[in-house]
Amino acid sequence: NWKMENFVSKKIEEIKNLVKNDKVLLGLSGGVDSSVVALLLYKAIGKNLIPVFVNTGLLRKNEETEVIYNFKKIGIDIVNVDAKEQFLTALKGIEDPEEKRKKIGHLFIDVFYNTAMDLLKKHGNIKYLAQGTLYPDIIESKVSERKTAVKIKTHHNVGGLPEKLPFKIIEPLRYLFKDEVRKIGEILGLPEEILNRHPFPGPGLAVRIIGEVTPESVKILQEADHIFMEELKRNNLYDKVWQAFAVLLPIKTVGVMGDYRTYENVVALRSVNSEDGMTADWSKLPYEFLNHVAKRIVNEVEGVNRVVYDITTKPPATIEWE
Ligand code: XMP
Repeated sequence: NWKMENFVSKKIEEIKNLVKNDKVLLGLSGGVDSSVVALLLYKAIGKNLIPVFVNTGLLRKNEETEVIYNFKKIGIDIVNVDAKEQFLTALKGIEDPEEKRKKIGHLFIDVFYNTAMDLLKKHGNIKYLAQGTLYPDIIESKVSERKTAVKIKTHHNVGGLPEKLPFKIIEPLRYLFKDEVRKIGEILGLPEEILNRHPFPGPGLAVRIIGEVTPESVKILQEADHIFMEELKRNNLYDKVWQAFAVLLPIKTVGVMGDYRTYENVVALRSVNSEDGMTADWSKLPYEFLNHVAKRIVNEVEGVNRVVYDITTKPPATIEWE
């Protein structure tokens, strides 16, 4: 860990010397990478860091409150952009997965750009944009530039954003791998909840709602997913799986509750073990655990009467359903 501690103090010095009294903008997602960048910058330049959090309305239940709270604890105030309505409106009537991904990607860039320009007017001396780019991201984008990779999904990231903005880029994690970033987060005192977070896709819950995204479908998925996460944590399984989540399917099935016939939605649970997300195996979660989660979802989430578990590996399936 000596090597990493050394890296941290060197990076902080380096950022201090580079930025001086200017301000740095950062897109904060609440994930590990951008959170570590936020802490590094905060240690280096304090209040001259301006972290921007965009609420797309496609986040997990309580995500916004938790991110704001976790950073407040450390002393970092976040610029919170409420773009929920904009994203929902943009997604109206769209069912195609790629179209959804593109809409979300473009809108995210627009929202971030407008916010950045407003902040620039307000502060004047924003000179840099910080990004949580890791080494694998660089390799991956080089590969896709050469077009040798088979493109399966348009990954949502802020590519295309830096060129539009009048800022210089800082990428303090550019030569690091994920496990190294986690170590740095640990050294910097990043809360456990952020450090051990499962990966979350840029387009968020939109790619976990098969078919059209509506305010109602977002709500149902958030509630079901929240129960799954809560039980994984409660049963010490959260840290043992690589990624887990719920998916809302665009079909209804018949059920029976008491003396009544129901005709409601289906939720699929997905949990995988993986090294890097490139290949994955489904988690052999205990039957009693799955049973308990399914019962809770059907009992507590209005509009769901059936829960299924995804037992497909990647390949041939992907981890996300869209
Ligand atoms: P797939 O579904 O391709 O996912 O097997 C592999 C890993 O990548 C995540 N993922 C994304 N991450 N933007 C991201 O930042 C995206 O658009 C995106 N799509 C999928 C997925 O959650 C899994 O961890």
